[in-house]
Amino acid sequence: MSTLAPKSDFPLLSREVHGKSLTYLDSAASAQKPEQVLRAMDDAYRTYYANVHRGVYTIAEEATQAFEAARRSVARFIHAERTSEVVFTQGTTASMNLLSYSWGSANLRDGDVVVISQMEHHANVVPWQMACERTGAELAWIPITSDGHLDLSGLESLLQRAKVISVTAVSNVLGTINDLAPLVTAAHDRNIPIFVDAAQSAPHQAIDVQALGADAIAFSAHKLLGPTGIGVLWARQSLLEAIPPFLGGGEMISDVRFDGFDAAPVPHKFGAGTPPIVEAVGLRAAIDYLSALGMDAVADHEHRLAAYAMDRLQSELGERIKIFGPSNPSERCGVISFELEAVHPHDVSQVLDEHGVCVRAGHHCAKPLMRILDVPATARASFYVYNEESDIDRLVAALDAAHRFFV
Ligand SMILES: Cc1ncc(COP(=O)(O)O)c(C=O)c1O
Repeated sequence: MSTLAPKSDFPLLSREVHGKSLTYLDSAASAQKPEQVLRAMDDAYRTYYANVHRGVYTIAEEATQAFEAARRSVARFIHAERTSEVVFTQGTTASMNLLSYSWGSANLRDGDVVVISQMEHHANVVPWQMACERTGAELAWIPITSDGHLDLSGLESLLQRAKVISVTAVSNVLGTINDLAPLVTAAHDRNIPIFVDAAQSAPHQAIDVQALGADAIAFSAHKLLGPTGIGVLWARQSLLEAIPPFLGGGEMISDVRFDGFDAAPVPHKFGAGTPPIVEAVGLRAAIDYLSALGMDAVADHEHRLAAYAMDRLQSELGERIKIFGPSNPSERCGVISFELEAVHPHDVSQVLDEHGVCVRAGHHCAKPLMRILDVPATARASFYVYNEESDIDRLVAALDAAHRFFV
């Protein structure tokens, strides 16, 4: 098996650390950037950079066109019905804050319930906790099974006073690919919306928001080969129109008077201030890059790597390693969280770094899930289009060395 995308497209992957070639296995935290993204952004700054939606001079119009072309590109990537349903934000976290604040303030009341799951990233927990504090609503948590899936057996009672469901499509810790269909059906049967944290799914599998049937999704560009500082909130036009603006300021108004303001039509109503212009150009280049690879090929590649990694980790390390999440690799994307016997995850990560292998250690911004797993932290390896079997072989060899060093 080789990489899906040539490593040579990713300049950073050619560097060394501690005299070893770099093995980057932390793409779930943030992905590396291909030349195509770096060049598109460099070109924007060098040749047509100006603020958007304001100037009538040539480069301002070119910048505006590039920015709006990025919005169209995102709409095509996720099969949105309308380009105006694509709101640029700072990232998944900002998108979830927008939703929980604007939708929450219009819809949540004392005694209402917001249903999330025990495997959520804090980005889909804390904004809802804040919304609950503001409105008197409460959180209800969908539990997880011992194999790392959503346990929907008690859904009926969880949904009794529910006003919204907000869940992740893919767990950033367990790698579980959640089957969202029963939740979408349950939400719509009750006439309540369902929001999806797609931070770990949009980079790794094809997304069709119309087929998915959710009412809003959120994701970040930096996890899909794009730059930091930009993300997406997609929501149905009717939902975006019905909720109040989040941030106020320039760009998001159609009129401002001494006695008030009128918000601009969507999506600009949610675009207060100067947007991430060049970042949008980078996001578009990242989408072009991934689309050329084909999102189904991306998903297949990660399934194969996850299966190979689980097999190698279990056969080489045996009892010395505990892998969290679904035991069937086809039920997970390229994220593997684990515990190495008697070695703290931070020590694992540090020793692996000596071998040039980058893995994440910590609670992965999923402390409620850590409490359920009964661990303070895990180590996590995650794969993307530029990884291949040999990266996993290096991970396994470095883990073996780390275990021998500590135990
Ligand atoms: C599932 C999930 N949701 C939300 C986020 C937050 O993304 P960002 O930090 O880009 O806002 C992450 C990031 O790791 C994630 O994995």
